[in-house]
This record gives sequence, structure tokens and C-alpha cells, in this order.
Amino acid sequence: MLKILTVVGARPQFVKAGVVSRALLEYSNVEEKLLHTGQHFDAAMSSIFFDQLGMPKPDVQLNINGGSHGEMTGKMLIEIEAAIVDQSPNLVLVYGDTNSTLAGALAAAKLNISVAHVEAGLRSYNRTMPEEINRIITDQLSDLLFCPTQLAVSNLEKEGYVPSTIDLVGDVMLDAVNFFKKQAQKPKSYTGGSFLLATLHRAENTNSIDKLRSIVDALNFIHHNVGKVLMPLHPRTSKLLLENKIDLQVNIIEPVGYFESLWLLDNCQLLLTDSGGMQKEAYFFGKPCVTMREETEWSELIDLGVNKLAGSDFERIVGCVNDLLDSRVDSDGQIYGGGAAASRIASRIASA
Ligand code: UD1
Repeated sequence: MLKILTVVGARPQFVKAGVVSRALLEYSNVEEKLLHTGQHFDAAMSSIFFDQLGMPKPDVQLNINGGSHGEMTGKMLIEIEAAIVDQSPNLVLVYGDTNSTLAGALAAAKLNISVAHVEAGLRSYNRTMPEEINRIITDQLSDLLFCPTQLAVSNLEKEGYVPSTIDLVGDVMLDAVNFFKKQAQKPKSYTGGSFLLATLHRAENTNSIDKLRSIVDALNFIHHNVGKVLMPLHPRTSKLLLENKIDLQVNIIEPVGYFESLWLLDNCQLLLTDSGGMQKEAYFFGKPCVTMREETEWSELIDLGVNKLAGSDFERIVGCVNDLLDSRVDSDGQIYGGGAAASRIASRIASA
């Protein structure tokens, strides 16, 4: 029996783990346990995803959140190590690039337990992003590197990774969208009319008050002059706007669950975001995307012309929205693996 301990903690990881866990159920030689670090803890950021995705309650529930990155990651390391000793898995499975990802990979590697990383090889080449540090170290510690795109494979090859550890599987978020899109649900708090969808939570945008103000000015301008902007607000952003008395005038709603998020993507005219995952989800739904960052790990979307980088600059954000608003996006998902990433991952793990 191959025992897997999956470590998750932040909102997008629940979605990714949900589809891979389902694929792993096909293999009778695999037993999976789930550890939730507690990094995201509000019902709207965590338990709603477990309910909607039909995931069982975590086998190990930690309660580690907030504080500095070192503090959060350090506490996770201590408790994940204890859980690994207790569960004695053969493999630890981690997703993406959050502090929970890094802590899971490091705890396992220190105990000589194999690590599998889903979303390996992504790079922004911006080391001021906490996520870039987390993904570089996690890749270094991993024995199985599951890449979502050809670009991710090339990044790892450039860094000298052993080719036999690299596997181009595609993006599990496409699998999730294909599986769940019929269950898309209009959020109760949404009150009709066409809209541009916006999300904002990245440390590089929210920790700099100048950038935050500039983005908010742009969103307010678009809302009043281009088209209504609807924004499910991340708790981090909400706190910072309040503390700094920044007046966001768009239509604000609470963070939404996965099904509501799918509905918003399917029904918006365009997405403005600094999220990594939502850039691709917009593409899966045939929607143009303005990315409020200076770089993206998903640059194939820039090459296709369906996504534009606008940073945090007022003029650039408004200009990109005007450029892309009525553009057509044809998406067949083939650059992201066609929706079979989870089954490829499960098959490789089961034969490890
Ligand atoms: C984290 C990830 C980021 C990912 C995002 C997905 C890291 C370094 N960052 O960012 O890569 O894109 O998750 O959403 O791991 N908070 C709440 N309730 C919650 C969750 C968070 O109030 O349920 C508050 C926290 O207390 C903290 C702030 O929001 O003050 C930020 O949370 P944190 O988990 O540190 O980072 P995210 O910005 O969510």
C-alpha cells in the first residue's frame, strides 16, 4: 500500500487537491490522508470549498495562520513534521506555492520522505514575491515534479533538474473547471447587470499602499466610466483598505465559494486580477484578462494576446481594459493538458 499525505492550507489548493484526490481513488494500492494547515480558516475561504467539492474532512487539522511568513512557515514545519511521523506516509503531496506548500515539502524532505509537487516549474523570476521563494525551494525538494505547461518544463530543464523527475501533466484547474462548471452558482449577494470581475490580494499589491491606492483609483474609474466592477474581497485586502482609509467604490461582495467563482467567471465581460489561478480560469471560460502584476507565470496567455500585464499603474490598467474589453478569446484548453492532468498525476503516483 502506498500511503500519501496531502498537505493543503490555502483556498486554491482545496480545488486542486479535490480533483487529484478523486483520481487517486481509482487506485486500490493508494491510501491518501489529508492535512489542512489552517492557513485559510474563514468558512468562506475554506470549509465552503470542502463542502462544494465533496471532499472529506481533513484527517489532520492544524490551526496555523497569520503572523509573519517565517513564523507561519516555522509553526507549520513543527506540526507537519509531527503529523508525518504519526502517519508515516511514503509520499507527501503538495500543491502550488503557498507557505503551506513550502512547509509540507520541507518537513517531508527533512524526514527523507518523497515529495510530489503539483504545479512545479512555474517561475515569475521575481524573488520579492513570497510565492516565488516557496516554489523554487519546493521544486528543489521534490522527487516528482508535475508541470502544468511546457514553459514550466523548460524552466526546470534550464535549472538543471533531472529529466526523469519532470512530468508534463497539464493543469489540474482545467480538470476542476470541466468537472464542476455545470454546478456554477450565481452568488446570492450579486444583484444583476453586466459586470467586469475583479480580485486583488497579492502581497506585492496590498502591502504597498501607493500601489493599492493606484489600483483602487483605476478600479473606481473603470466602475464609473467603463462598466460596473464586481469584486469579491479577500480578507487581507479588506483589512488594508479599512486601515488606510482607502475608498473602494466598486460593487463589493464577500469572498465567494468555488461554484460562485465559476459563475462569476462565466458571466463577466472581463477579469481584472492579481491571482495566478484566475488568469487561467478566465481563459477556460473564454474571457479576456488584465493582470495587475508586472509578470506572470502563465506567459503563454500573454503570447496568445488574451491576457495583458498592467502592473498597478492607473493608465495601464484602464488602457488594458479598453484594449481587451470586446476581444474574443477562443480556448480549447490544449495548452493546459486538455483536462486530464489529475488522472496523469494519479497514474504516475500509483506506479511510483
Ligand atoms: C495566500 C498565499 C498566496 C495565494 C493565496 C490564495 C502565501 C505566501 N500566500 O495568500 O500565494 O495566492 O493564499 O488565496 O502562502 N485571512 C483571513 N481569513 C482567511 C484567510 C486569510 O482573515 O480565511 C487573513 C490572514 O489572517 C492574513 C491575511 O488574510 O492576515 C493574509 O492571509 P495569508 O494566508 O497570509 O495569505 P494570502 O494573502 O491569503
